[in-house]
Amino acid sequence: MNLMYKEFISVEDYNALREAVKWGKLCHEQAQQGLENSAYVISCYDNGKIVGSARIIWDRGYISYLADVMVMPEYQGNGIGRHMVEQAITFIKSQLKEGWKIKIVLVAAKGKETFYEKFGFEERPNDEAGAGMDLWLAFSGS
Ligand SMILES: CC(C)(COP(=O)(O)OP(=O)(O)OC[C@H]1O[C@@H](n2cnc3c(N)ncnc32)[C@H](O)[C@@H]1OP(=O)(O)O)[C@@H](O)C(=O)NCCC(=O)NCCS
Repeated sequence: MNLMYKEFISVEDYNALREAVKWGKLCHEQAQQGLENSAYVISCYDNGKIVGSARIIWDRGYISYLADVMVMPEYQGNGIGRHMVEQAITFIKSQLKEGWKIKIVLVAAKGKETFYEKFGFEERPNDEAGAGMDLWLAFSGS
């Protein structure tokens, strides 16, 4: 392997990863807006071929969200996911100012909680916090 990390990903490579991990492609406009409005994007290439990515959405205040951590199935288990999450956390750390604190939120895919616990993320629900929740909305005509 000849891995190279970049702080950018094209819509095409992002969608290739989404398909590979079975999340499905997003339409070009929606994917592009999501990537452009991310505070931090990291991608990984092996000899020019996309093999992983992750991104951070951040309000520039105290809330950030770690999203779309994806590694091509044939490249999983090689430390690529770990490196990208570490870099994403490093980015948020670099934004801290005196008196600040920033929370990184994520929604773990089923069975991936242990992967994230290695970085200090705490599983919910727990004794103090309830479960995370989400709501999907889809266009159903105007
Ligand atoms: C989850 C995912 C990003 C992990 O990436 P990866 O490159 O395979 O992981 P790494 O090789 O960097 O593993 C880092 C550590 O996490 C562990 N780990 C990896 N996948 C794990 C899993 N599914 N469950 C528990 N531990 C896991 C590894 O054993 C390794 O532990 P170690 O450092 O103690 O040896 C990757 O499996 C993936 O893309 N899955 C499909 C998409 C997905 O579900 N993403 C998560 C969305 S919330």
